[in-house]
Amino acid sequence: MCGIAGYVGPKNAVDVVFDQLKRLEYRGYDSAGIAYLDGGSIQVTKKAGKLSELGKVLHDSPKHAELAIAHSRWATHGGPTDENAHPHYDRFERIAIIHNGIIENYLELKQDLVAHSHKFSSQTDTEVAAHVIGREYTDGVPLEEAVRKAVKKLRGAYALVVMSLSEPGKIVCVRNSSPLVLGIGIGENMLASDIPALLPYTREVVIMEENQIAILTKERIRLIDGDGKELAIEPTHIDWDIDAAERGGYEHFMRKEIHEQPQVMRQVTTGRIDEKGKIRLEGIFGDHVWNEIDRVNIIACGTAYHAGLMGKHLFESALRLPTDVYFSSEFRYGDPVLSPKSLAIFVSQSGETLDSLAALRLCKQRRIRTLGIVNVVGSAISRECDRTIFTQAGPEISVASTKAYTAQVMVFALLALYIAQVQEVPGVRIDEWISEIGRMDELMAECLKLEPQIEKLAEEYKDMPLCFFLGRGADAFVAMEGALKLKEIAYIPTQEYPAGEMKHGPLALVTENVVSIFGATDPNIRDKVVSNIKEVQARGGRIIAITTSEDELMDQVAEHVIKIPKTKFEFLNALLAIIPLQLFAYHVAKLNGCDIDQPRNLAKSVTVE
Ligand code: M6R
Repeated sequence: MCGIAGYVGPKNAVDVVFDQLKRLEYRGYDSAGIAYLDGGSIQVTKKAGKLSELGKVLHDSPKHAELAIAHSRWATHGGPTDENAHPHYDRFERIAIIHNGIIENYLELKQDLVAHSHKFSSQTDTEVAAHVIGREYTDGVPLEEAVRKAVKKLRGAYALVVMSLSEPGKIVCVRNSSPLVLGIGIGENMLASDIPALLPYTREVVIMEENQIAILTKERIRLIDGDGKELAIEPTHIDWDIDAAERGGYEHFMRKEIHEQPQVMRQVTTGRIDEKGKIRLEGIFGDHVWNEIDRVNIIACGTAYHAGLMGKHLFESALRLPTDVYFSSEFRYGDPVLSPKSLAIFVSQSGETLDSLAALRLCKQRRIRTLGIVNVVGSAISRECDRTIFTQAGPEISVASTKAYTAQVMVFALLALYIAQVQEVPGVRIDEWISEIGRMDELMAECLKLEPQIEKLAEEYKDMPLCFFLGRGADAFVAMEGALKLKEIAYIPTQEYPAGEMKHGPLALVTENVVSIFGATDPNIRDKVVSNIKEVQARGGRIIAITTSEDELMDQVAEHVIKIPKTKFEFLNALLAIIPLQLFAYHVAKLNGCDIDQPRNLAKSVTVE
């Protein structure tokens, strides 16, 4: 996601925060900017593109300041332009702010501010937050007090950092669901969104907790809560090396990204479920379009294709909306039959996959409506689709896609509910879905606790010659994604099938050392899966079953049972099962000494056909 840096102290603050941003570059971004005090004004310098673009402007005429804040932006509201880059000023340019996260109610706030003659130079929610804080920053009010009052008006997930012209030696920051870390120095203090940015300067850090506000001067750091009460500072000593710190202390980005999924579940829904329990998907087609669509074509590659299969499953089971899923590379040359009232949905993490882009262009030629489900804002697919829903998963660095997949599937869930809401589809309990979706972060965190068990299984089976991934219903689609993970990072041959297909041929491959991982998270078809397990067992195959917590039957049937939490919906149960599968692939690959984040022969973004 976006990167935040801030420094106050005797060094040249502009150089320090620029260096800090460089240390956050691995997180991905599309524009960057710095604010510092220069005599009687706050100077803001910002540029779209890489940090080198900002560096050129800064270094052409070197700047010096004792306090600066800086930001690298990964666009969410508004494209990656100079104007939308942070920092942003308030109305009178007395404060400048930088921000990570999303202010959900920014449109309402903006309307009110516009009605009071505020003018805006960007499309961002951040500039709205700057104006809201500026409004509270009246004469005699300390900056921290203005921030404390203003954040009560903001809804969403954010980390905000503010500097002021009238209090030149002070930085105020607040954390609400987006990380912020404070760095304690001698005669200097600093902050960043992530520890690696601080390590060259200090190893004593304070990891801010929810709703805390920090006030930094060069002499000291104060912490207060949302009521203004002073809090004790409890520093942590960090002894990671700088490389490990970029990965948040994890050995690989893939494991970091697997562990980020609870947070991603919160990010995906941020701003999309309102207080009245309605799904809000801003900027997509109007209701008349949703009422007219007679068929959906989902087009994607790899993991995104597997997310598309989950989308089909939900659209057909919940909405009775006929849906086809195509590999992008096949779609284009397959002369597809497309109804003029159909909708083509393009799913892509990078938004740059050439096969998908070519298929998108074909749909546009055929005048079919197009919708993107994309992670990277400003990417080609997001720009060329008629409408795009962003997955808000944050940058994914490991070649093997993990958190982007769960985010894509959750976007399909939100979209299906949105269509159900518009079409008033009978039998879809939107309230129950929303409540279960709201638990997905906790439930994913529960699944992550299974890691020690999965590591042991990986140890036992790391030399398997072949691994089957099997399931029925939604479990069969998740099995396909689990199989892709194991083959792409651990180089172990896999076969993925709906479990009922085994007896029609693939069963011939089962021998003593062959492992079969069954998804059995749907109680309605579990007994059928049990029969399929027995067929494999009878041929000497090794069995790992993933089932839900209340199931006792599987303990009597399978050699190894992984129990995940249960939700009210089989679709969500199946989605949770991907976490043990991702972890299994990860640990098998690690034990086999594979290059996990950059597997052989593969690239993160595939821009060739
Ligand atoms: O960026 P995209 O989502 O369009 O990429 C699609 C596939 O190339 C991608 O999912 C690939 O299969 C991953 N390596 C899977 O982990």
